[in-house]
Amino acid sequence: MNKDTITLTNNRDAKSYEFPILNATVGPSVVDISTFYKETDMFTYDEGYTSTASCRSSITYIDGEKGKLMYRGYDIAYLAKKKTFLDTAYLLLNGELPNKEELDNFSFEMQKRSFVNEGVKNLFDAFPDHAHPMAILSAGVSALSAFYYKHLEINTKEEYKEMANRIVAKIPTLAAFSHRYSNGLPIIYPDMNRGFTENFLYMLRSYPHNYVELKEIEIKALDTIFTLHADHEQNASTTAVRNLASTNAHPYAAISAGIGALWGKSHGGANESVIRQLEMIGSVDRVDEFIAKAKDKEDPFRLMGFGHRVYKNFDPRATILKDIRNELMHELGISSELVDVANKIEEIALSDEYFISRNLYPNIDFYSGLILQALKIPKEMFAVIFVIGRTPGWIAQWSELNKQKTIKIARPRQLYTGPNDRTPEY
Ligand code: ACO
Repeated sequence: MNKDTITLTNNRDAKSYEFPILNATVGPSVVDISTFYKETDMFTYDEGYTSTASCRSSITYIDGEKGKLMYRGYDIAYLAKKKTFLDTAYLLLNGELPNKEELDNFSFEMQKRSFVNEGVKNLFDAFPDHAHPMAILSAGVSALSAFYYKHLEINTKEEYKEMANRIVAKIPTLAAFSHRYSNGLPIIYPDMNRGFTENFLYMLRSYPHNYVELKEIEIKALDTIFTLHADHEQNASTTAVRNLASTNAHPYAAISAGIGALWGKSHGGANESVIRQLEMIGSVDRVDEFIAKAKDKEDPFRLMGFGHRVYKNFDPRATILKDIRNELMHELGISSELVDVANKIEEIALSDEYFISRNLYPNIDFYSGLILQALKIPKEMFAVIFVIGRTPGWIAQWSELNKQKTIKIARPRQLYTGPNDRTPEY
């Protein structure tokens, strides 16, 4: 018998079926059940894909037990500490880290392509004040397909490169505009002399003729957040992007779908919830009360920013951000009741049996929310920041799927539970 197979027996009729096992470079193998329906006349059922690999991918790898995350084989800590977000974006988009010349060219491409067509402003003018910046951003990205309608067919390497550079470069401008329009503020055009992350912070926080002085640590903190969010295997928004790609949809439509998925509270909205919860707790005296609520089985209250579906030991991204948060708070001289509340929660949770026994460690959102707040970025913009970071990952995943020789449209089956044959004689 071939050892690299799995045998399943249907106990209803004692028939056995054999399915091949495919090996991963690292991590769990998968059972290839693509012929399952044809052979057994049954579907498999796995709501939320908890045991299902939806694709082959060579982009990102997570080992949740060991707390490991790699992009294209490079450990996230190396990329976050020794490289910039642009290095990481280039790596995701092209498969290799750039050398000095490649990075300089990529950086220049980002500066050159950061401007958006003036027509986008007319579109944004139509949104009411206080429209959510995610609504404005997703409309803006969709609209790019109307402005670049001649470039929707992507067949060659050059067309791919141009599309990827265009989208990665324009997203921060659209993101900053979404904040300015949402708050009735004058927009600030990109500055060709600033680097990628600095330029975004500048467009977000400056006023005409009154440009903010940005500290190195502020740029580094945000750049690290972008790097840590750049990809994360087949999460919900990436799956949305891939589903659209499987229909042959162009990348602007696919990325808009990703933005929609990321807007969900259970996905890109978690760090906003962390800050809202810290504000709700309000003072260090009340921390014990809320820790008790989190531990109470009868109480649905959960400590936001603790626990993770995949990381069961620690979230490697959180470890990196904890150091950055400490550095940022120290250099900016920030102290506030909110930070004290966060520190007390962290201290108790890391030493409390309830949290230790359930492997509930602070996740990336616990620290990223505090960092973004220290950078004076409003809560409504937190998911937008996530979009800027995740865009290179989405494009890399869109492209990986498009490079396959044959593309199967994503079309899951179902377990039908509705009525049967109710149509009357007519
Ligand atoms: N506070 C208190 N208790 C918790 C928490 C929490 N934040 N998270 C899990 N638990 C407890 C559960 O009550 C459960 O206890 P039990 O074994 O006594 O029943 C146990 O830990 C396991 O919880 P599950 O819900 O089964 O764990 P799961 O892996 O499914 O959930 C999740 C992970 C959804 C992230 C959860 O930890 C949570 O709700 N955390 C708070 C929200 C949050 O921070 N989300 C952001 C995640 S990071 C990201 O998405 C980018």
